[in-house]
Amino acid sequence: MITLTVNGAEHKLDVDIRTTILDALRDHLGLTGSKKGCDHGQCGACTVLINGRRVNSCLTLAVMHEGDEITTIEGLGEPGNLHPMQESFLHHDGYQCGYCTPGQIVSAVGMLGEVKDGWPSHVTGDIAHGGADLSNEEISERMSGNLCRCSAYPNIVDAIRQVGT
Ligand code: FES
Repeated sequence: MITLTVNGAEHKLDVDIRTTILDALRDHLGLTGSKKGCDHGQCGACTVLINGRRVNSCLTLAVMHEGDEITTIEGLGEPGNLHPMQESFLHHDGYQCGYCTPGQIVSAVGMLGEVKDGWPSHVTGDIAHGGADLSNEEISERMSGNLCRCSAYPNIVDAIRQVGT
């Protein structure tokens, strides 16, 4: 039995020690916003925040994260009360089929948090105030772990540029 803290709520789960965070979220907690695209760390569709940092939830085991704060797309906003990043993706059509969108949005929120925190330090510089301070190339580089098979990348970058930290 493990206890996971997801979107501010504690959940006791009886899971096999080989269960990933992604499978724990989807199969045990019914939080299906995080998507299983590749299941081996290549697409980013499963991105969640763990203690504010972006993680491919298909690559890390649930038993490793007792005591950590896990945030999924469901924890960012809800209908009628969307997170600014969700609003911006809507406004800029930052998606086509939508499958990668939860991971893209969670990753974008985490990415701007990294910028704000100056993390990792070797890629900071004059980028300290959020999406508007980042070039399209910097945003693309920092979001390169999230693939979009529909190639909605220009609109995704536009959406992120409109959201501050
Ligand atoms: Fe985790 Fe693709 S499902 S990176």
